[in-house]
Amino acid sequence: MKAKKILVTGGAGYIGAHTAVELINAGYDVAIVDNLSRSDKRLLEGIEKITGKPVKFFEGDCRDRNFLLKVFQSEGPFSCVLHFAAYKAVGESVEKPLLYYENNLNSTIALVEIMIKCGVTDFIFSSSCTVYGQPDQIPVSEAAPFKKAESPYGATKQMSERILEDVSRNNIRIITLRYFNPIGAHPSALIGEIPLGTPNNLVPFITQTAVGVREKLTVFGNDYNTADGTCIRDYIHVVDLATAHVKAMEYLSQQRETKFYEVFNVGTGIGVSVLELINRFKAVNNVELNYEIGSRRSGDIEKVFADPSKAMSSLGWAAKFTIDDSLLHAWQWEKKIRDK
Ligand code: NAD
Ligand code: UFG
Repeated sequence: MKAKKILVTGGAGYIGAHTAVELINAGYDVAIVDNLSRSDKRLLEGIEKITGKPVKFFEGDCRDRNFLLKVFQSEGPFSCVLHFAAYKAVGESVEKPLLYYENNLNSTIALVEIMIKCGVTDFIFSSSCTVYGQPDQIPVSEAAPFKKAESPYGATKQMSERILEDVSRNNIRIITLRYFNPIGAHPSALIGEIPLGTPNNLVPFITQTAVGVREKLTVFGNDYNTADGTCIRDYIHVVDLATAHVKAMEYLSQQRETKFYEVFNVGTGIGVSVLELINRFKAVNNVELNYEIGSRRSGDIEKVFADPSKAMSSLGWAAKFTIDDSLLHAWQWEKKIRDK
């Protein structure tokens, strides 16, 4: 039987690259589209090294309908489109809101338009737990209401979800995955996260500090209402997140309905504080970390972690890697890209 063809947008980025690997290893025929605006070509090379197969890569923009149409016509018909392409830096989105609304919304709209034109029905969307803000109940389930978005980036995820739910009435079948905090790297250390400029996120900041690229990590506040005073998050290994996409795609393909829209949290269900994470990083990797306690970062949520039971029961998915695995793999990747 011929392998099913899958389109991965943003596949030269962090989560898209890991998902492309899981898809190829599961026997799918993957085409990647990326405009390389926020990516590093080392990830495409890494996908080839891990899978032992050449990557079908098409450089172009998801807002460019002519480009998309050509890819759909030459590489399709696609069984499913996995849409990772977006800008994701929260701080930058506050500085440049139009850049974020323009890219994140228009790329999604253009992609769905071309899917409809080409008769492609199945779509998986990358959303974020940021849509929940500070939830009233933790662990947070998919039924929790949206809170006012803390940033234009968060607003693009809320708006995209709304657009996609509406579009699913036009015979498009959609699964939205709300990621909690993706961390770590492929256990081979051949692909991982390469932040552009100073990292905003905790784990890349930790690894860059430990490796000597940054002088010191600042812990943003230790006066929160948590056991050690630092914020709590649900950190999920990026390979577990990638396998959730494969499961979601297969679940979607089994549905009989022509109109379909469902949302799943993708998290571990375990809350870890900033200080706990730092201490695990030091212990697992046997390295020191220079850090200080600083003031709170504005817009930070005090405490959030997932109720992942819906993904577990419907998709048959569960996180397999531990927080220690994630921190080990993140560190191995950091050392690899610094050639240490
Ligand atoms: P990333 O920046 O590593 O990858 C995104 C990729 O999309 C990049 O390679 C970039 O060049 C590409 N891209 C951006 N705009 C494009 C466009 N218009 N056309 C073509 N390519 C374009 O980000 P990531 O961490 O892999 O995130 C993937 C998705 O997951 C994004 O939608 C992001 O918002 C979402 N997400 C990420 C996180 C996280 O913490 N990493 C958390 C929740 C949700
Ligand atoms: N933190 C520090 N120091 C740093 C960086 C982060 O103490 O240098 C703390 C933050 O205050 C927070 C925790 O580490 O308490 C995690 O911060 P991240 O920036 O890594 O992640 P966030 O949970 O704040 O948010 C990110 C994205 C959101 C997205 C969310 C879940 O910015 O848009 O992950 O995917 F929704």
